[in-house]
Parts: sequence; structure tokens; C-alpha cells
Amino acid sequence: MKERIIGIDLGTTNSLVSCIKDGRVEVIVNERGARLTPSVVSFSQDGQAIVGEIARNQAVLNNDVTIVNCKRKMGSDHQFMIRGRHFSAIEVSALILRKLKVSAAQRLGRSVDRAVITVPAHFNEKQRHHTIKAAEMAEIEVVRLLNEPTAAAIAYGLYHNKQAHLLVIDIGGGTTDITLMNFKNGLFTVKGTSGSSRLGGVDLDMAVVDWLGENFKQEHGIQLKDDPIAHQQLIIQAEQAKIDLSQTDMVEVFIPFISGTADGPLHLRQALSRKKLEELNNSFFDRLTQLITATIDDYELDPAWVTDVVFVGGVTRMPRIKQIVQAVIPDRVMWNDLNPDEAPVLGAGALAGKFSGQNENFFIFKDMTANELGIEDHYGKFVSLINRGTIYPVSATRLFTTTMDNQPDITIHLLQKTGDGEIVSLGSFSMTDLPPRPAGELPVDVTINITESGLIKVTALNLEDGNEQFITERVDQPWDNEGYARRGSGLEVV
Ligand SMILES: Nc1ncnc2c1ncn2[C@@H]1O[C@H](COP(=O)(O)OP(=O)(O)OP(=O)(O)O)[C@@H](O)[C@H]1O
Ligand SMILES: [Mg+2]
Repeated sequence: MKERIIGIDLGTTNSLVSCIKDGRVEVIVNERGARLTPSVVSFSQDGQAIVGEIARNQAVLNNDVTIVNCKRKMGSDHQFMIRGRHFSAIEVSALILRKLKVSAAQRLGRSVDRAVITVPAHFNEKQRHHTIKAAEMAEIEVVRLLNEPTAAAIAYGLYHNKQAHLLVIDIGGGTTDITLMNFKNGLFTVKGTSGSSRLGGVDLDMAVVDWLGENFKQEHGIQLKDDPIAHQQLIIQAEQAKIDLSQTDMVEVFIPFISGTADGPLHLRQALSRKKLEELNNSFFDRLTQLITATIDDYELDPAWVTDVVFVGGVTRMPRIKQIVQAVIPDRVMWNDLNPDEAPVLGAGALAGKFSGQNENFFIFKDMTANELGIEDHYGKFVSLINRGTIYPVSATRLFTTTMDNQPDITIHLLQKTGDGEIVSLGSFSMTDLPPRPAGELPVDVTINITESGLIKVTALNLEDGNEQFITERVDQPWDNEGYARRGSGLEVV
């Protein structure tokens, strides 16, 4: 029997699993029969983790032991505190992944040990690395990390076998990815990609929460934010209102007994129109328009280059999103026939099927880096080795040298410049016991290699004696310009 490899979309709000069945890729439903499993973790009295629908449904009551939107914290040092215990985003993701693995295994009637997992295209290396660590913790071997927009494009390709220039717009709960892609003769080539890990449906919800809270405060003089249970109810109802307003023009948000005074209970009742929702989120839509136009510009393409638009992520169901895209790229085909929640996981499942030999006729794809990579020189400056927008797998080498006479060591400090313009420290290592040479006379080749999953390996090669070293240790603090500049890497470009 052939090995089953599954596809997993580990989302900010919802996660999905898929695999190939009778030659077709299918979403695997969970034990409740649902296609989406909420990426919510909570803990029972005895400390057992509860993942999914049950955790989400009890989020109001169990607010203090519930973790949501954990993907937004991937790659950071953030610790979730539950009953005095700390959980990293990796550990929380591992709990979600384990649950997905167990429920898929039950459904398929066999164990599941390997997976293709999707990640946002703009995820930096640390976020990718942490995703793999989470999978390892859940005893899942990651066969490949696949960029979500590329996965969605593969799903598009399964249904529309034609030539196209695609604009993939993926707006999920926490993140936004904009990707330009060429699709021809079964080959996808990413032409441009950018995104933000700070733009997603959650932001739309929070704008509504703030507005509702402000109105309530004006009317009753009570700050609902200060009451965690009331605040959680607001968040849930705000999201529901936002979702409903994709279909209707007006909703009424009603939360009975949300608060109270000596005179009795207070209820929240507030009409919200689609127009008002959009107005509250003007800055969100401006940022989105800007991201789309900037991505097209950055890669020296023209809006007219795009022939087809593919929508991914729940937020793209909002009518306003389509209007925005139509304003930037008029008269293009807007595909709504793919379920925007399911497109990435279907692509991941198709690729998983290819790896397990169950999917013969498959598309090939070339992915592109969303971040620039380089190392720090002696003066604390970022020296670029691999530009943003480079097709990978790839390897790039640059020649460096020492900055002082008889310098005993050098530090290779790997840096990544994200689409948001932020510099992230990915790790460092030192090469010690260098032979004594005058400044600038010891040649060292630094090579950065990016694997198919977007993971990075750095090597330094002392060209004089052939001594080679790899990155071993990963530092987790953000790059502090001053701190590192003062330390000095002992390296400069030749
Ligand atoms: N009909 C709808 N109208 C507006 N927003 C919606 C609709 N349906 C879902 N959403 C929103 O979409 C978001 C979830 O989308 P999705 O499940 O694609 O995200 P995710 O994959 O979990 O997140 P990410 O891709 O950022 O990791 C939530 O903010 C949800 O409120
Ligand atoms: Mg998603």
C-alpha cells in the first residue's frame, strides 16, 4: 500500500487537511464532520489541551485558558501564559498539528506521519523554521513547506488548465499575501510576491470591537475592554457581524447581559451597516490597495499584465475587496469558483500526492523569495547576498575579508530584510583560530543556500586553508543595529 502524505493548511483562524483519494485531492473532514478546524487551543481543568471547535465555542467562558491567533506570534519570543505555565507559539502550533494528524489518521484508517504544510509566502526563515519545529513536536515529518499563494495557484491549475498571468490575493485571519504568477504548460513561475503579517481579518474585527466599545462607553460610561468576558463576546460578535455583512447590507449586533450597574443588567444593541464597517476599516483597505499596486510596481509589471485574479482566504468574500481589485486592474477575470478557504490545502494535498506517487500529472512550480538575505559587516551594515524576488532553490556566494591585523576570529551574522522593511536576525556563528594575517588578506567566502522549503543554510569557507563552517546556533532576538554594530563582525566585503 502506498504511503499517505497529507496536505495541511495551518491557518491563523482555521486549519485544514487534505489528501489524494482515487486520483483527486480532497479535504479530509475532522471527527465532527467539519472541513475547517478552528486553530484555537484551550486547556481543561486537569491541563489537557482541547483543540478546535470545542475550544472556540468555550472561548468566552474559558477566556483565560484559551489561545487564539497563535500563528501571528510564530517566529517571535512571545509566551502564552496559561495557569502559570508558559507556551511558545511553536508548542501551541504543535498541539494544533497533533490534533489534525490524529483526526486525519482516524478518518483515513492509518497513521499519518508526513505532510506538506503551507505557510504565508512572506514568512521569514525563522517563522518557517518554527513551523517545522512545531511539526516535529507533533511527530509529523515535513516533506515540504509550500507557500500558501503557490498552493492556491496549484489548486487553480487543477481546475483551469490554461495559460494565465495570475494575481493571487490571500487575506486570512492574520496575514495578507499578494502574489503574481505566470502559468504556462503546467509550469507556475512566481513573478513577484509581497505581503504583511500584520494585515488580516482580525484587524477588521478589532476596528468593530473598538467602535462598539466606544459607543457603549458613551452611552453607559462603562469600558467593556476591562472585562475579559465582555471583551471576548465583543470580539466574537464583531467577527460574526463582519462575516454576515459580506452577504447583507445591515446587521444588528445584540449581546444581552453584557454588563450591568446597580440598576440592573445592560445589553448591547447596535445596528451596523456594511458601509459603516467599510468606513471603520478605511486604513485597512488603503493599505491593501497600496500593497497590490506596490507589488505590481516592484516587479516592474503593469496592471494590464494580469489576466486572472484568484481570491484566497475568508476575508476576500467581502464585496469591498473585489471592488478594490477591480479598481486597480479593471476588466480582468475574477475567479470566485475556488472555495477561498480551501484552495491552499487542495494545492498542498496535490503536492503531497506527488511525493507519495499518487498524483502523476502534476504541475511544476518555481517559488520566489519574499525577503532579502545578507550578513552583517564589521560596521553593522547589512550586506546583501540574495535579493528579494529570487527564484529558489538557490545559492549565492560573496567574498569577504578580515578588518584587522592578526584577527583571531570572525562572526557570520545572518540577517533577513522583510517586505515590511524590518531587519531580522536569523542566527550567527564564529569562525575561530584564524591564521595570523594582515587586515584584508584573509579571504573568506560566505555562501547562503535556500532549500526548496525556503530554509536557509549558511557556510563560511576560509579560502586559504579550506576550513568550512556552518551555522549551528540560532539567535532569537531581533537585530539591534547599535548592539551589533558595536560588537563588530570582523568582516567586510572585498
Ligand atoms: N464571509 C466572510 N466575509 C468576511 N470575512 C470572512 C468571511 N468568512 C470568513 N471571514 C474571515 O476570514 C478570516 C479567516 O480566513 P481564513 O480561514 O482563510 O484564514 P486563515 O487561513 O486561518 O488565516 P491565515 O491565512 O492568515 O493564516 C477570519 O478573519 C474570518 O472572520
Ligand atoms: Mg490561510
